[in-house]
Amino acid sequence: MLAELVEYLLTSCPLPARKLGYLTEAVAIRARHRRCRAAWQSHLENSRAAIMEAAQASSGRKCALVLGSGALLDVPVEQLARMFERVVLADVVHPLAARWRVRRLYNVRCMTLDVTGTLAALAHGPGIPDSTPLALCDLLKREAPDLIVSANILSQLPLLPLRRLKASGLHAPLELEAFASRLLAEHVSLLEACPGTACLIADIRWHGTSGIENPLRGALLPPPVRTWTWNVAPRPEISRDHDVYHEVGFFLPARRNPENTA
Ligand SMILES: C[S@@+](CC[C@H](N)C(=O)[O-])C[C@H]1O[C@@H](n2cnc3c(N)ncnc32)[C@H](O)[C@@H]1O
Repeated sequence: MLAELVEYLLTSCPLPARKLGYLTEAVAIRARHRRCRAAWQSHLENSRAAIMEAAQASSGRKCALVLGSGALLDVPVEQLARMFERVVLADVVHPLAARWRVRRLYNVRCMTLDVTGTLAALAHGPGIPDSTPLALCDLLKREAPDLIVSANILSQLPLLPLRRLKASGLHAPLELEAFASRLLAEHVSLLEACPGTACLIADIRWHGTSGIENPLRGALLPPPVRTWTWNVAPRPEISRDHDVYHEVGFFLPARRNPENTA
């Protein structure tokens, strides 16, 4: 508990993201990983193997971009740093352990970035933002990554924004669901629009204490290359009687033909 408090106090995080709870979540994820290390092992290995498979398939070796790099638990950052001229890690929070791990990898850069482009507006007021992911679009133009990895972030994108919007009590459930679906659809479209190889690792089903949920909210994905089970919270982490687990998919979204898009 004390270690978590110290980590919270020492980790830098932009104010809007902090207000929405991203820093608390980042600290909590690392703490849960420490408690559930054995149960998470196969998921993390599967994720790292998927990223390396996509990296091998990419034709260029200049830049690899990882979205949702977080604590780097599922990211083989050392291997990527050896393979690519530069590696950009993008997240709203880079935990101290992640920064420490890459401190001697001179071609790796941590970029603090909100991939949805909505967090500042959400932190500012209770309206549903209609902004687009401009910072990410700029980054993609600048870096033109040969490999872009979405690392277990897709299903997470709407969670804290929805918590914030629900707390305001101003929005109908259908409006909130439409907003959440938009965040996921935009993220998938961005991956499909990238000229490099896109690697998407994402939850495709949640088995929670109150049944099965679909975290994809209608996002259209190609057939997965592989799927596996992530035992996120073995009992008694969340429930004394049930394990909470996710089904996770590894996807290689193909580049969308620009002529076919609106
Ligand atoms: C389940 S974690 C991914 C795990 C991470 N790849 C790792 O190995 O530790 C989801 C990550 O997505 C990040 N995230 C969620 N929403 C984001 C956003 N709008 N912009 C950037 N990062 C976001 C969180 O900060 C978190 O690090």
